[in-house]
Amino acid sequence: MRKTVIAGNWKMHMTCADTRKFLQEFMPLLDKINNDREIVIAPPFTAISTFSEASNFNYINIASQNIHWEDSGAFTAEISPQMLLEHKVKYAIVGHSEPRKYFSESDEQINKRAISAQLNGLTPIVCVGETLEQREKGEAERVITRQVEQGLERTNPANLIVAYEPIWAIGTGKTCEAKEANKICTLIRNLIGYEDVVIQYGGSVKPNNIDEIMSMNNIDGVLVGGASLDPSSFARIANFK
Ligand code: PGA
Repeated sequence: MRKTVIAGNWKMHMTCADTRKFLQEFMPLLDKINNDREIVIAPPFTAISTFSEASNFNYINIASQNIHWEDSGAFTAEISPQMLLEHKVKYAIVGHSEPRKYFSESDEQINKRAISAQLNGLTPIVCVGETLEQREKGEAERVITRQVEQGLERTNPANLIVAYEPIWAIGTGKTCEAKEANKICTLIRNLIGYEDVVIQYGGSVKPNNIDEIMSMNNIDGVLVGGASLDPSSFARIANFK
């Protein structure tokens, strides 16, 4: 039985004060009878400590927005697995399209980050997705195949989440049609060859499309950007029917 994971990615938003306010509003809105799903939020590094103090781990887990492959060293702006474990961080987002685009993150680096997370007992959330140009040229499946093969090489599929995030759907309000997203998620599952790997969809997930997305047989959860910043929107997503 695959687990359902609803994750929010706060990106470069939310101070510690914002985090406290969010949790105060968000926690009471969570439907506590839903123990069939896991709720995860990736705050910025500066708010992780506040987040872990103010949240209730029975309902909500923490993800980091990055992880390095070394335990320590001269790697300015990076974060090590040990630093995250100290704050009970459970997941690490790697390969998001923003670091891929703005910082030229390669499949090889993403692979090293994913392996590092697993070796240290964290679960990587590895993002893959094609650009609009690649989709229009009919290259989506080829791009996803390359990202999966190279980014997930030598990873353990039993401790892994893959998020299919078509880049043209991120922050644009254009959601990928649920059936199309399901088709790519099926491709990813087949490429990995492990039936129980957890696969999320991400890209303009909102309260008004969550129920349809979650009704797809090969989508086990979502990775939410913008709508995870608003307590009532993210609660509606977390409480999907
Ligand atoms: P969005 O972002 O929900 O704002 O489209 C998704 C993401 O970047 O993970």
